[in-house]
Amino acid sequence: MSRSILFAANWKMHLSPGEARTYMDRFLEVDAPRAGRSLAFFPPAVSIEAVARALVGHDHAVVGAQDVHWEPKGAFTGATSVSLARSAGAAAALVGHSERRHVFGDTDEETRRKLDAVVDGGLQVMLCVGETLDDREAGRTDATTARQLTSALDGVDPGIDLVIAYEPVWAIGTGRNATPDDAARAHRGIRNVLQDLGFAGETRVLYGGSVNTGNVAALLAQRELDGVLVGGASLDPDGWAAICAEG
Ligand code: PGA
Repeated sequence: MSRSILFAANWKMHLSPGEARTYMDRFLEVDAPRAGRSLAFFPPAVSIEAVARALVGHDHAVVGAQDVHWEPKGAFTGATSVSLARSAGAAAALVGHSERRHVFGDTDEETRRKLDAVVDGGLQVMLCVGETLDDREAGRTDATTARQLTSALDGVDPGIDLVIAYEPVWAIGTGRNATPDDAARAHRGIRNVLQDLGFAGETRVLYGGSVNTGNVAALLAQRELDGVLVGGASLDPDGWAAICAEG
């Protein structure tokens, strides 16, 4: 079976609707679509619709939400429900991103509720897991990702549209990335837990954390990696196209 590589861009709190339109025009001009490679863009909620419009007719790419609330509607100031994200054009959602867990304090339990809401809403789930530097130095990388995966996925229908992103917290936005071997080792641990939870080998497991044009090829040379989730280096359309050209 040929490997299908997924390149996912997490724009975080960058790129307004107007900037997103300019970005997508440029990206689609310079990017050369390839068989077996797919793309996902996670813009801020206000720019989802602009990206969705730009991607009409580009079936190899989807747009998604960076975060959702688990409730379908109500008095939750500042939050975005799954149905609001979907009506703006989202076909996927990040769940449990490290910044949600460590900056906003999302717990494993809240992450599970968000995952359930995304599944119920029919969107693809991109579940993010990863250990802190303390966990890593204490030899708890696998234990941490196993805990995060189990609390998010135990009892969930293995037929859901699921992607996992392994993002060591200490590597996100820091310029420090896991070595290709470290990433591959963590991915093998994740794959074992997924199998124990009943998820088939087809679930893609991406790597994220300071991925850039200089290190993406070495990371993707590891067969355990099915793609990358990229923050800072995805903010420039030419740079992002150069990264996606490695697929
Ligand atoms: P980074 O972010 O590429 O800027 O490290 C990755 C992420 O947070 O998804």
